Amino acid sequence: MKGIILAGGTGSRLYPLTKVTNKHLLPVYDKPMIYYPLQTLIDAGIKEIMVVSGRGHAGHFLELLGSGGEFGIHLTYEIQEEAGGIAQALGLAEDFADDGSIIVILGDNIFQDNVYDAVESFRSGARVFLKKVMDAKRFGVAEIRGSNIVSIEEKPALPKSNLAVSGLYIYDTKVFEIIKKLRPSGRGELEITDVNNEYIRMEDMSYSMLSGYWSDAGTFESLFRASELVRNIKLNI
Ligand code: G1P
Repeated sequence: MKGIILAGGTGSRLYPLTKVTNKHLLPVYDKPMIYYPLQTLIDAGIKEIMVVSGRGHAGHFLELLGSGGEFGIHLTYEIQEEAGGIAQALGLAEDFADDGSIIVILGDNIFQDNVYDAVESFRSGARVFLKKVMDAKRFGVAEIRGSNIVSIEEKPALPKSNLAVSGLYIYDTKVFEIIKKLRPSGRGELEITDVNNEYIRMEDMSYSMLSGYWSDAGTFESLFRASELVRNIKLNI
């Protein structure tokens, strides 16, 4: 399976930290943010990884990560010309995916779990990774019935559960056909939640619960919390 790290977007919620630097290059404790999702994919046994980033900072990712050789992997790079959403960025990876399944991770998501087993056992459809959170409103929120997800709502005012959909997804090749049929959301973006709801509609969606910590790092509070989490784990081992 190949991996894709989505590192586009403007990082507007972290302004002025993101005035000249890309969000995914900001420090999370002792490493640039993007090292963490990269490590998650490496720990999952992924060896071929594409980094999708916006214009302007793409060169910085290349300089930071290079060929991937120092991490024992192979990296390729793709440019998202304008910030059109997570699903639009993912659509740029169609040729790279080469008719195989893919694991997709958001460049500002920090996971403690190892998802090697989920990758190894994946056959078809889609899989999302859920985490119980206090502030579900900030995320895609999953409604569960038994062992099925019945819906995902993007940033609902009244969340139907406290289960956030984290920024880690496994898809089969159908994902690219689904993306081509998407229409922009209210915020003018192609939403990954719309992709996931289409898999739910096709009854082809499964989920795992994350047991370790998970944080995004796209707001001042979550960036601060992510640094603390990483630091505390490091000091404890
Ligand atoms: C995105 C997704 C959302 C998900 C979140 C995880 O939101 O749209 O469904 O829960 O990532 O970090 P964003 O932070 O890009 O607004």
